[in-house]
Amino acid sequence: MAEPKKTILITGATGFIGRRLAVLLADAYSVRCLVRDAVRAKALLPAAVELVSGDMTDEASLKAAVAGVDAVVHLAALKSDEPRIAAVNVGGAVSLVAACRAAGVRRVINVGSQASRLPRRGAYGDTKAQSDEIFSGSGLEVTTLLPSVVYGPNDPGVFGKLSRVTASAPFVPVIGDGSSRFQPVHVDDACAVIAGCLREPKTAGKSYSVGGPETITLDGLIDLIGAGLGKKPLKIHIPEWAAMVIAHFLALVRGSPPLSVSNVLGAVQSAPDADYGAIFAELGLKPRALADGMKNGPI
Ligand SMILES: NC(=O)c1ccc[n+]([C@@H]2O[C@H](COP(=O)([O-])OP(=O)(O)OC[C@H]3O[C@@H](n4cnc5c(N)ncnc54)[C@H](OP(=O)(O)O)[C@@H]3O)[C@@H](O)[C@H]2O)c1
Repeated sequence: MAEPKKTILITGATGFIGRRLAVLLADAYSVRCLVRDAVRAKALLPAAVELVSGDMTDEASLKAAVAGVDAVVHLAALKSDEPRIAAVNVGGAVSLVAACRAAGVRRVINVGSQASRLPRRGAYGDTKAQSDEIFSGSGLEVTTLLPSVVYGPNDPGVFGKLSRVTASAPFVPVIGDGSSRFQPVHVDDACAVIAGCLREPKTAGKSYSVGGPETITLDGLIDLIGAGLGKKPLKIHIPEWAAMVIAHFLALVRGSPPLSVSNVLGAVQSAPDADYGAIFAELGLKPRALADGMKNGPI
């Protein structure tokens, strides 16, 4: 007789990465998703997944969400230096760890970010670093994954924004001198790593940088996006200080600013060198080349 499927809770399942992960995991597991808006989530997620209403800032909802699950994939986060970012990213981590402990759930895949490794961090990088510490010090069996920029279809992030501007505007504003380096990883490769870690208990207690096979500069990325669109983009470089002035102003007038201080810091700095391919090798996976990943476009 076939073994009953294990149950996996995904937080942040309605997000860019979470939506693809829910589809990937839905065959092999019973997938439960913590969602803030069940009506919206129903339209975004596969019919087979179970939706539980909740919020990272609502301890009781997290306790209910983890009841009976075998493992948690934690993706939920605020990413734009919103006023509630610490409550969600740090307070949420504390509450999720407490809920897991109380329910006897041992296994957690915690998705962090390279933003936590930057020399100068904004609220996003700071709160992601604190969250990672909470998980790694929790005594639970935690694998922490630190992706570089994640890209793919319907990308609301860096690739998607740059693609939309490159496609439609006469020039592309670039924060800083364009020399910062990234290791972009396709969303489906990032999801394959998460799924692989769920299968491999030996990854517990470890933290891995996750990136694709190529290192590319911000300027190089814009040229690549332009080449895909048959264009040679005109890049206008904006000094960090000017971008910071705009970001600080936007923070005053917008709850979730389209350009945050953390975005600026992420654009002008490179994360320290790391082995972005180790986790792929450990799991017997191969991340796709950037040119292949971009064939279906980020927009
Ligand atoms: N995308 C990247 O390039 C990238 C790179 C490195 C690391 N990461 C990390 O990967 C994770 C997922 O990123 P993503 O790009 O998929 O993010 P995303 O598209 O912005 O999605 C964020 C998710 O978090 C949920 N969320 C936000 N606040 C919440 C709260 N208070 N309670 C419950 N859920 C909440 C959102 O729910 P709603 O739909 O209800 O808003 C959404 O499902 C994040 O932890 C991020 O730091 C992403």
